[in-house]
Amino acid sequence: MTVVIRRARVADLDQMATLAADAQADPDRFCAYLAADAGAIAADVAGVIGPNGGDWTDASWVALDDARNVIAWLVAEVDDDMDRVWWWGPIVADEQRLPPVLRDGTMDQLFAAANDVTGRYDEHELAIDDRSTMLRSFASRHGFVAEEASAMLRTPPLAATGQQHGDRATDEHQGGVVALAPHHHASVVALHDSAFPGTHTTGEKLVEDAPGRSVLVIDDAAASTTGAVAGYVAVERQSDGSLYIDYLAVANHLRGRGIGRRLVSEAVARGAAEGATHAHLTVRVGNVAARRLYASVGFVEESILLPLRRGFSVP
Ligand SMILES: CC(C)(COP(=O)(O)OP(=O)(O)OC[C@H]1O[C@@H](n2cnc3c(N)ncnc32)[C@H](O)[C@@H]1OP(=O)(O)O)[C@@H](O)C(=O)NCCC(=O)NCCS
Repeated sequence: MTVVIRRARVADLDQMATLAADAQADPDRFCAYLAADAGAIAADVAGVIGPNGGDWTDASWVALDDARNVIAWLVAEVDDDMDRVWWWGPIVADEQRLPPVLRDGTMDQLFAAANDVTGRYDEHELAIDDRSTMLRSFASRHGFVAEEASAMLRTPPLAATGQQHGDRATDEHQGGVVALAPHHHASVVALHDSAFPGTHTTGEKLVEDAPGRSVLVIDDAAASTTGAVAGYVAVERQSDGSLYIDYLAVANHLRGRGIGRRLVSEAVARGAAEGATHAHLTVRVGNVAARRLYASVGFVEESILLPLRRGFSVP
Protein backbone atom coordinates (compact mmCIF):
# COMPACT_ATOMS: atom_id res chain seq x y z
CA MET A 1 0.00 0.00 0.00
CA THR A 2 1.16 3.52 -0.77
CA VAL A 3 -0.05 5.99 1.80
CA VAL A 4 -0.86 9.46 0.47
CA ILE A 5 -0.88 12.45 2.82
CA ARG A 6 -2.76 15.64 1.98
CA ARG A 7 -4.68 18.53 3.52
CA ALA A 8 -8.18 17.44 4.62
CA ARG A 9 -11.23 18.48 2.58
CA VAL A 10 -14.82 18.99 3.64
CA ALA A 11 -15.75 15.75 1.84
CA ASP A 12 -13.38 13.81 4.16
CA LEU A 13 -15.22 14.78 7.34
CA ASP A 14 -17.62 11.81 7.53
CA GLN A 15 -14.84 9.28 7.03
CA MET A 16 -12.65 11.08 9.56
CA ALA A 17 -15.45 11.00 12.13
CA THR A 18 -16.26 7.32 11.56
CA LEU A 19 -12.60 6.41 11.86
CA ALA A 20 -12.21 8.42 15.06
CA ALA A 21 -15.31 6.91 16.68
CA ASP A 22 -13.70 3.50 16.20
CA ALA A 23 -10.33 4.72 17.52
CA GLN A 24 -11.88 6.37 20.59
CA ALA A 25 -13.00 2.95 21.84
CA ASP A 26 -9.39 1.67 21.80
CA PRO A 27 -7.10 2.96 24.60
CA ASP A 28 -4.04 2.63 22.35
CA ARG A 29 -5.58 5.03 19.78
CA PHE A 30 -7.68 7.28 22.06
CA CYS A 31 -7.27 11.07 21.90
CA ALA A 32 -8.44 13.15 24.85
CA TYR A 33 -9.97 16.14 23.09
CA LEU A 34 -12.45 14.17 21.01
CA ALA A 35 -15.95 12.96 21.79
CA ALA A 36 -16.86 9.28 21.49
CA ASP A 37 -19.48 9.19 18.76
CA ALA A 38 -19.09 10.05 15.08
CA GLY A 39 -21.71 12.82 14.95
CA ALA A 40 -20.17 14.73 17.84
CA ILE A 41 -16.64 14.22 16.52
CA ALA A 42 -17.66 15.62 13.11
CA ALA A 43 -19.25 18.64 14.81
CA ASP A 44 -16.14 19.24 16.94
CA VAL A 45 -13.73 18.96 14.01
CA ALA A 46 -15.90 21.17 11.78
CA GLY A 47 -15.88 23.77 14.56
CA VAL A 48 -12.10 24.03 14.69
CA ILE A 49 -10.82 27.45 13.70
CA GLY A 50 -7.64 27.36 11.61
CA PRO A 51 -4.68 29.75 11.81
CA ASN A 52 -5.55 33.40 11.11
CA GLY A 53 -9.24 32.64 11.53
CA GLY A 54 -9.36 30.10 8.68
CA ASP A 55 -11.60 27.01 8.73
CA TRP A 56 -10.84 23.50 10.01
CA THR A 57 -9.44 22.25 6.70
CA ASP A 58 -6.59 24.76 7.05
CA ALA A 59 -5.40 22.84 10.10
CA SER A 60 -6.27 19.22 9.24
CA TRP A 61 -4.44 16.51 7.33
CA VAL A 62 -5.47 13.03 6.21
CA ALA A 63 -3.67 9.85 5.15
CA LEU A 64 -5.33 7.87 2.35
CA ASP A 65 -4.92 4.23 1.31
CA ASP A 66 -4.78 2.98 -2.29
CA ALA A 67 -8.59 3.16 -2.56
CA ARG A 68 -8.44 6.79 -1.37
CA ASN A 69 -10.11 6.00 1.95
CA VAL A 70 -9.05 7.94 5.04
CA ILE A 71 -6.88 5.66 7.20
CA ALA A 72 -5.41 8.29 9.54
CA TRP A 73 -5.82 11.97 10.30
CA LEU A 74 -4.46 14.79 12.37
CA VAL A 75 -6.01 18.11 13.40
CA ALA A 76 -4.05 21.00 14.90
CA GLU A 77 -6.31 23.25 16.95
CA VAL A 78 -4.25 26.41 17.08
CA ASP A 79 -4.58 29.26 19.51
CA ASP A 80 -2.93 32.35 18.08
CA ASP A 81 -3.27 34.30 21.34
CA MET A 82 -1.56 31.61 23.40
CA ASP A 83 0.88 30.62 20.63
CA ARG A 84 -0.19 27.02 21.26
CA VAL A 85 -1.30 23.97 19.30
CA TRP A 86 -3.68 21.36 20.74
CA TRP A 87 -3.17 18.19 18.71
CA TRP A 88 -6.19 16.04 17.91
CA GLY A 89 -4.63 12.76 16.92
CA PRO A 90 -2.95 11.32 15.00
CA ILE A 91 -6.08 9.16 14.78
CA VAL A 92 -5.30 5.92 13.00
CA ALA A 93 -7.33 3.04 11.56
CA ASP A 94 -7.15 -0.43 13.12
CA GLU A 95 -4.48 -2.92 12.14
CA GLN A 96 -6.60 -4.40 9.33
CA ARG A 97 -6.82 -1.11 7.50
CA LEU A 98 -3.45 0.38 8.46
CA PRO A 99 -0.86 -2.36 8.98
CA PRO A 100 1.32 -1.83 12.07
CA VAL A 101 4.42 -1.62 9.89
CA LEU A 102 2.99 1.54 8.26
CA ARG A 103 1.50 3.16 11.35
CA ASP A 104 4.43 5.01 12.85
CA GLY A 105 5.55 6.29 9.45
CA THR A 106 2.04 7.49 8.61
CA MET A 107 1.70 9.33 11.90
CA ASP A 108 5.12 10.92 11.44
CA GLN A 109 4.28 11.99 7.87
CA LEU A 110 1.04 13.61 9.03
CA PHE A 111 2.95 15.49 11.71
CA ALA A 112 5.59 16.58 9.18
CA ALA A 113 2.89 17.78 6.75
CA ALA A 114 1.30 19.82 9.52
CA ASN A 115 4.60 21.50 10.30
CA ASP A 116 4.13 24.05 7.50
CA VAL A 117 1.28 25.46 9.53
CA THR A 118 2.20 24.49 13.07
CA GLY A 119 5.98 24.99 13.00
CA ARG A 120 5.65 28.63 14.01
CA TYR A 121 3.87 27.82 17.29
CA ASP A 122 6.10 27.28 20.31
CA GLU A 123 3.76 25.35 22.58
CA HIS A 124 2.24 21.97 21.78
CA GLU A 125 0.00 19.60 23.70
CA LEU A 126 -1.48 16.18 23.06
CA ALA A 127 -3.34 14.07 25.62
CA ILE A 128 -3.71 10.29 25.40
CA ASP A 129 -4.92 7.34 27.46
CA ASP A 130 -2.02 6.35 29.71
CA ARG A 131 -2.31 2.75 28.45
CA SER A 132 -1.33 3.80 24.91
CA THR A 133 2.14 2.76 23.85
CA MET A 134 1.66 3.78 20.21
CA LEU A 135 0.83 7.43 20.84
CA ARG A 136 3.29 7.72 23.70
CA SER A 137 6.13 6.70 21.40
CA PHE A 138 4.84 8.99 18.62
CA ALA A 139 4.96 11.87 21.09
CA SER A 140 8.40 11.05 22.35
CA ARG A 141 9.73 10.84 18.75
CA HIS A 142 8.57 14.44 18.35
CA GLY A 143 9.98 15.86 21.56
CA PHE A 144 6.84 15.86 23.73
CA VAL A 145 7.32 15.15 27.43
CA ALA A 146 4.76 13.42 29.67
CA GLU A 147 3.48 15.47 32.62
CA GLU A 148 1.21 14.68 35.57
CA ALA A 149 -1.67 12.42 34.55
CA SER A 150 -5.34 13.24 35.14
CA ALA A 151 -8.22 10.94 35.96
CA MET A 152 -11.29 11.09 33.72
CA LEU A 153 -14.35 10.88 35.93
CA ARG A 154 -18.02 10.63 35.04
CA THR A 155 -21.37 10.39 36.74
CA PRO A 156 -23.84 7.59 36.03
CA PRO A 157 -26.56 8.63 33.52
CA LEU A 158 -28.46 11.67 34.77
CA ALA A 159 -32.23 11.51 35.05
CA ALA A 160 -33.94 14.57 33.59
CA THR A 161 -35.69 16.22 36.50
CA GLY A 162 -37.36 18.94 34.43
CA GLN A 163 -36.78 21.44 37.19
CA GLN A 164 -33.80 23.14 38.71
CA HIS A 165 -32.35 21.78 41.88
CA GLY A 166 -32.44 25.10 43.72
CA ASP A 167 -29.36 25.31 45.91
CA ARG A 168 -29.88 26.60 49.43
CA ALA A 169 -27.14 28.39 51.33
CA THR A 170 -26.02 26.38 54.34
CA ASP A 171 -23.36 28.74 55.69
CA GLU A 172 -24.58 32.05 57.06
CA HIS A 173 -21.63 33.87 55.47
CA GLN A 174 -22.31 32.50 51.98
CA GLY A 175 -25.10 33.05 49.51
CA GLY A 176 -26.70 30.47 47.24
CA VAL A 177 -25.36 29.32 43.89
CA VAL A 178 -26.07 31.94 41.21
CA ALA A 179 -25.12 32.55 37.58
CA LEU A 180 -22.03 34.67 36.97
CA ALA A 181 -22.89 38.37 36.58
CA PRO A 182 -20.65 41.23 35.37
CA HIS A 183 -19.95 42.44 38.92
CA HIS A 184 -18.34 39.04 39.70
CA HIS A 185 -15.92 39.18 36.75
CA ALA A 186 -12.86 40.67 38.46
CA SER A 187 -13.07 38.27 41.40
CA VAL A 188 -13.57 35.19 39.19
CA VAL A 189 -10.71 36.24 36.89
CA ALA A 190 -8.34 36.62 39.86
CA LEU A 191 -9.38 33.31 41.46
CA HIS A 192 -9.18 31.43 38.14
CA ASP A 193 -5.76 32.80 37.20
CA SER A 194 -4.33 31.96 40.59
CA ALA A 195 -5.85 28.44 40.70
CA PHE A 196 -5.10 27.52 37.05
CA PRO A 197 -2.07 29.44 35.74
CA GLY A 198 -1.05 28.51 32.18
CA THR A 199 -4.22 26.61 31.34
CA HIS A 200 -6.08 26.75 28.01
CA THR A 201 -8.64 29.33 29.19
CA THR A 202 -7.45 32.46 30.95
CA GLY A 203 -9.68 34.17 33.51
CA GLU A 204 -10.56 36.91 31.02
CA LYS A 205 -11.66 34.32 28.47
CA LEU A 206 -13.60 32.37 31.05
CA VAL A 207 -15.88 35.29 31.91
CA GLU A 208 -16.62 36.12 28.25
CA ASP A 209 -19.87 34.74 26.85
CA ALA A 210 -19.24 31.52 24.96
CA PRO A 211 -21.82 29.22 23.38
CA GLY A 212 -22.63 26.27 25.62
CA ARG A 213 -20.59 27.51 28.58
CA SER A 214 -21.94 28.67 31.89
CA VAL A 215 -20.30 29.78 35.08
CA LEU A 216 -21.96 29.49 38.49
CA VAL A 217 -20.68 31.27 41.59
CA ILE A 218 -21.30 31.53 45.29
CA ASP A 219 -20.97 35.08 46.60
CA ASP A 220 -18.55 35.72 49.42
CA ALA A 221 -21.15 37.51 51.48
CA ALA A 222 -18.62 38.34 54.20
CA ALA A 223 -16.24 40.20 51.87
CA SER A 224 -16.20 43.99 51.85
CA THR A 225 -15.74 44.12 48.05
CA THR A 226 -18.92 43.86 46.03
CA GLY A 227 -18.82 40.95 43.61
CA ALA A 228 -16.21 38.93 45.54
CA VAL A 229 -16.94 35.25 45.04
CA ALA A 230 -16.30 32.38 47.45
CA GLY A 231 -15.92 30.01 44.51
CA TYR A 232 -17.03 29.26 40.97
CA VAL A 233 -17.63 26.33 38.67
CA ALA A 234 -17.43 26.57 34.87
CA VAL A 235 -19.30 23.99 32.81
CA GLU A 236 -19.81 23.34 29.13
CA ARG A 237 -22.66 21.56 27.35
CA GLN A 238 -20.92 19.36 24.80
CA SER A 239 -22.12 18.32 21.37
CA ASP A 240 -22.68 14.72 22.54
CA GLY A 241 -25.26 15.94 25.10
CA SER A 242 -22.98 15.63 28.12
CA LEU A 243 -22.06 18.24 30.71
CA TYR A 244 -18.33 18.87 31.08
CA ILE A 245 -17.11 20.36 34.35
CA ASP A 246 -14.27 22.50 33.08
CA TYR A 247 -13.10 24.41 36.15
CA LEU A 248 -13.84 24.55 39.85
CA ALA A 249 -12.10 26.66 42.46
CA VAL A 250 -12.83 27.97 45.92
CA ALA A 251 -11.01 30.93 47.51
CA ASN A 252 -8.17 29.68 49.70
CA HIS A 253 -9.51 31.02 52.98
CA LEU A 254 -12.97 29.50 52.39
CA ARG A 255 -11.97 25.95 51.55
CA GLY A 256 -13.21 22.99 53.56
CA ARG A 257 -16.68 24.44 54.22
CA GLY A 258 -18.61 22.56 51.56
CA ILE A 259 -18.57 25.36 48.96
CA GLY A 260 -16.90 23.27 46.26
CA ARG A 261 -19.34 20.44 46.77
CA ARG A 262 -22.34 22.78 46.56
CA LEU A 263 -21.08 24.30 43.32
CA VAL A 264 -20.55 20.92 41.67
CA SER A 265 -23.83 19.44 42.93
CA GLU A 266 -25.76 22.45 41.68
CA ALA A 267 -24.01 22.45 38.28
CA VAL A 268 -24.85 18.76 37.83
CA ALA A 269 -28.45 19.26 39.00
CA ARG A 270 -28.94 22.14 36.56
CA GLY A 271 -27.36 20.08 33.77
CA ALA A 272 -29.73 17.20 34.53
CA ALA A 273 -32.70 19.56 34.50
CA GLU A 274 -31.63 20.77 31.06
CA GLY A 275 -31.38 17.19 29.77
CA ALA A 276 -27.62 16.49 30.00
CA THR A 277 -26.96 12.75 29.62
CA HIS A 278 -24.15 12.62 32.18
CA ALA A 279 -21.46 14.85 33.64
CA HIS A 280 -17.73 14.30 33.26
CA LEU A 281 -14.43 15.99 34.04
CA THR A 282 -10.71 15.49 34.39
CA VAL A 283 -8.75 16.01 37.58
CA ARG A 284 -5.03 15.66 38.32
CA VAL A 285 -4.32 12.27 39.86
CA GLY A 286 -2.53 13.97 42.76
CA ASN A 287 -5.39 16.39 43.58
CA VAL A 288 -6.69 14.47 46.58
CA ALA A 289 -9.11 17.19 47.78
CA ALA A 290 -10.88 17.49 44.43
CA ARG A 291 -10.96 13.73 43.83
CA ARG A 292 -12.64 13.15 47.20
CA LEU A 293 -15.11 15.91 46.50
CA TYR A 294 -16.06 14.46 43.10
CA ALA A 295 -16.34 10.94 44.53
CA SER A 296 -18.66 12.28 47.23
CA VAL A 297 -21.07 13.64 44.60
CA GLY A 298 -21.11 10.42 42.57
CA PHE A 299 -18.32 10.69 40.00
CA VAL A 300 -16.45 7.47 39.18
CA GLU A 301 -13.11 6.94 37.43
CA GLU A 302 -13.25 5.98 33.76
CA SER A 303 -9.61 6.16 32.68
CA ILE A 304 -6.35 8.01 33.18
CA LEU A 305 -5.21 10.67 30.70
CA LEU A 306 -1.61 11.50 30.09
CA PRO A 307 -0.79 15.02 28.85
CA LEU A 308 2.26 15.26 26.60
CA ARG A 309 3.73 18.72 26.14
CA ARG A 310 6.43 20.40 24.12
CA GLY A 311 7.66 23.95 24.64
CA PHE A 312 5.78 24.53 27.88
CA SER A 313 4.85 22.84 31.09
CA VAL A 314 1.80 23.03 33.36
CA PRO A 315 3.14 22.75 36.92
C1 LIG B 1 -10.87 21.31 45.19
C2 LIG B 1 -11.59 22.47 45.84
C3 LIG B 1 -12.48 23.14 44.79
C4 LIG B 1 -12.45 21.95 46.99
O1 LIG B 1 -13.32 22.98 47.42
P1 LIG B 1 -13.81 23.04 48.95
O2 LIG B 1 -14.90 24.03 49.01
O3 LIG B 1 -12.66 23.23 49.84
O4 LIG B 1 -14.38 21.55 49.14
P2 LIG B 1 -15.56 21.14 50.09
O5 LIG B 1 -15.42 21.84 51.40
O6 LIG B 1 -16.86 21.28 49.37
O7 LIG B 1 -15.24 19.60 50.32
C5 LIG B 1 -16.03 18.57 49.80
C6 LIG B 1 -15.30 17.25 50.02
O8 LIG B 1 -14.07 17.24 49.29
C7 LIG B 1 -13.05 16.59 50.06
N1 LIG B 1 -12.01 17.55 50.42
C8 LIG B 1 -12.06 18.90 50.31
N2 LIG B 1 -10.89 19.44 50.70
C9 LIG B 1 -10.10 18.42 51.06
C10 LIG B 1 -8.75 18.32 51.51
N3 LIG B 1 -7.98 19.42 51.69
N4 LIG B 1 -8.25 17.09 51.75
C11 LIG B 1 -8.99 15.99 51.55
N5 LIG B 1 -10.27 16.01 51.11
C12 LIG B 1 -10.81 17.20 50.87
C13 LIG B 1 -13.73 16.04 51.29
O9 LIG B 1 -14.19 14.73 50.95
C14 LIG B 1 -14.89 16.97 51.45
O10 LIG B 1 -15.96 16.38 52.09
P3 LIG B 1 -16.02 16.30 53.71
O11 LIG B 1 -15.66 17.65 54.20
O12 LIG B 1 -17.43 15.90 53.96
O13 LIG B 1 -15.02 15.26 54.07
C15 LIG B 1 -10.58 23.52 46.43
O14 LIG B 1 -9.66 22.83 47.22
C16 LIG B 1 -9.83 24.30 45.35
O15 LIG B 1 -10.28 25.35 44.90
N6 LIG B 1 -8.65 23.79 44.93
C17 LIG B 1 -7.84 24.45 43.90
C18 LIG B 1 -8.45 24.31 42.52
C19 LIG B 1 -8.71 22.86 42.17
O16 LIG B 1 -7.91 21.97 42.42
N7 LIG B 1 -9.87 22.63 41.51
C20 LIG B 1 -10.28 21.32 41.05
C21 LIG B 1 -9.65 21.09 39.72
S1 LIG B 1 -10.40 19.72 38.88
